[in-house]
Amino acid sequence: MSAERRPLVAGNWKMNGLRDSAAEIRAIADGYDAALAARVDLLICPPATLLATAVVESDHSALRIGAQDCHMKASGAHTGDLSAEMLADAGATAVIVGHSERRADHHESDEMVWEKAEAAWRAGLMAVVCVGETEAQRQAGHCHAVVARQVRGSVPDAATPENLVVAYEPVWAIGTGLVPTAEDVAEVHGVIRAVLKERFGAAAQGMRILYGGSVKPDNVGALLGAADVDGALVGGASLKSSDFLAIARAYL
Ligand code: PGA
Repeated sequence: MSAERRPLVAGNWKMNGLRDSAAEIRAIADGYDAALAARVDLLICPPATLLATAVVESDHSALRIGAQDCHMKASGAHTGDLSAEMLADAGATAVIVGHSERRADHHESDEMVWEKAEAAWRAGLMAVVCVGETEAQRQAGHCHAVVARQVRGSVPDAATPENLVVAYEPVWAIGTGLVPTAEDVAEVHGVIRAVLKERFGAAAQGMRILYGGSVKPDNVGALLGAADVDGALVGGASLKSSDFLAIARAYL
């Protein structure tokens, strides 16, 4: 965390949530009180089917609503896909791109993630660009090189502190309960910051880098205190308003 970067706690609901989950969104919005809002930005990314509902449920609060993926084109013959413009039209103000589950399930390359981030900006959305090594890559000692390559290949040239958030999510830590040490996280975030500095100079100092992977209320304190960690991208623990708010309150 740093004086020049406002922390962000973002929730990624993945393929979870039906209409009755609107109550959880409302509970998060209601719990995002003035004390929290003074310290930390909150973002929830529900499935696209719940975007419009989530926007309505949170319109009395500063809670931001985002999406989990977008197509790189604005419109056209792409059955089943959603453009960044559509997500913005539904009320999203941010979109996650390049999550490791999309890189794995949908063969998304760094080049595609780059184009998706540019699509997000074209539609006025903040892009949360995800990077992270697999267990095999870490064991082979390639973690820093892999993450640096992903950041170089996935973050477009027009990045600014306002339109870009990078999320470091080690693939082996997602949904497993395994968490790297705070020192390991700080090291990788340092690598990401250095790559951003190479590309964007002084502006890199204002760009937020989140940690993601098995963040829970009881481990968030250690992680968020680590150098260059500007918040968290939370999967499983974002589905329950009480857990998500407990993670956010680590900033009070
Ligand atoms: P998790 O997911 O918190 O359930 O590990 C994090 C993510 O994939 O964004």
